[in-house]
Amino acid sequence: MNRLTNKHIILGVSGSISAYKAPDIVRRLQDLGAQVKVILTEAGAKFITELCLQSISKNKVHHNLWDENAELGMGHIELAKWADAILIAPASANTIANIALGKANDLLSSVILANDAPLLIAPAMNLKMYQSHTLQDNLSTLISHHTIIIRPESGKQACGDIGIGRLAEPSSIAKQVAKQFISTKLTGKKVLITLGATIEAIDPVRFISNHSSGKMGMALVNACIESGASVTCIYGNITTTLNAKSNNISIVSAQQMYTKVMDNIAGQNIFIACAAVSDFSVKNASNQKIKKDGGDLTLELVPNKDILADVCKLKEKPICMGFAAETQNMLKNAQKKLKNKGCDVIILNKVSSADSGFNVDENEVIFLSQNLNKKIGKNSKQKVAKKILEIFIKECL
Ligand code: C5P
Repeated sequence: MNRLTNKHIILGVSGSISAYKAPDIVRRLQDLGAQVKVILTEAGAKFITELCLQSISKNKVHHNLWDENAELGMGHIELAKWADAILIAPASANTIANIALGKANDLLSSVILANDAPLLIAPAMNLKMYQSHTLQDNLSTLISHHTIIIRPESGKQACGDIGIGRLAEPSSIAKQVAKQFISTKLTGKKVLITLGATIEAIDPVRFISNHSSGKMGMALVNACIESGASVTCIYGNITTTLNAKSNNISIVSAQQMYTKVMDNIAGQNIFIACAAVSDFSVKNASNQKIKKDGGDLTLELVPNKDILADVCKLKEKPICMGFAAETQNMLKNAQKKLKNKGCDVIILNKVSSADSGFNVDENEVIFLSQNLNKKIGKNSKQKVAKKILEIFIKECL
């Protein structure tokens, strides 16, 4: 299984003779499905060329903290946001010391400070340097900060010494990166997720719908599956790709979504209502295409049943998370929804700005529960979904 599919990995290459293995590490990560961007330190560039790493990774190699071409001029923040994990291989004694001290004196150390994804480092150096108290103290500091150390191997070293300090094998390094994405936090849990837009027919060719793409919901489906859950996905109109590992059920109208949710809700541990469900449907939708006759046309709309509110009223209610797409009085409206629908969590989604919310790849939300009001900053929907799930697991399970 390609455990790094769609994962963004930053590979930091620092000054060690084993930097010559960095292209192979890029390849092994790609073999597992990852996209790789390389940050090359000044010392790393003495051992391996930017051109080689660019060709293999198929991405620009980054080395400059002061990159005027970076969007907003803050390349380190953009890279940190992009990364699902950061791997430093080879990690030199100097780079390890910098990171342990929390320095931000080059691009790599700055990205690491701005990053909250897993950090893995694979030290490579002379055995005496590796065994020194200072280096070992620095590794202990990093371990206490949850850094994963990929231990070096023993053998003949470039300097002629024999002992520990050789960079771990590229395939074993890539496997350790992949391991970070196996989570069992939702193993044994059943999750039902609604997503996408419902479609309410006016006549056989016209309908009422909305701008939802289903991307946020799909990101949640993927995040739940990655955490070990068994997922049922009830989806309306979407412009995103389904996950083959979920039980996918297609619907068109709000009424169909209601029926499918109620048919499948028994035994679910978690219900995530991410769909943009039409609040109204057309009373007496026409079987034939409505012809214009020069006059006004009045459509009578009748309210649809609120799926989330009705699931929350069930006797055996799962833990329920709803979404509130708001354009004004956002917090107040979302808090009202949390109370009125009787759900455990509302994710407040600002939909008035063009670059976040509906039909775009990024989002910025607030996680609201009885006890918590936590902002999740703007990032890709994948990352926002992961963060939502992380908080949800901590707060609600
Ligand atoms: O009340 P409002 O439509 O703003 O609430 C949004 C939340 O309720 C979303 O989680 C949405 O999926 C859910 N909802 C629903 N059934 C409806 C309307 C909304 O499940 N008919």
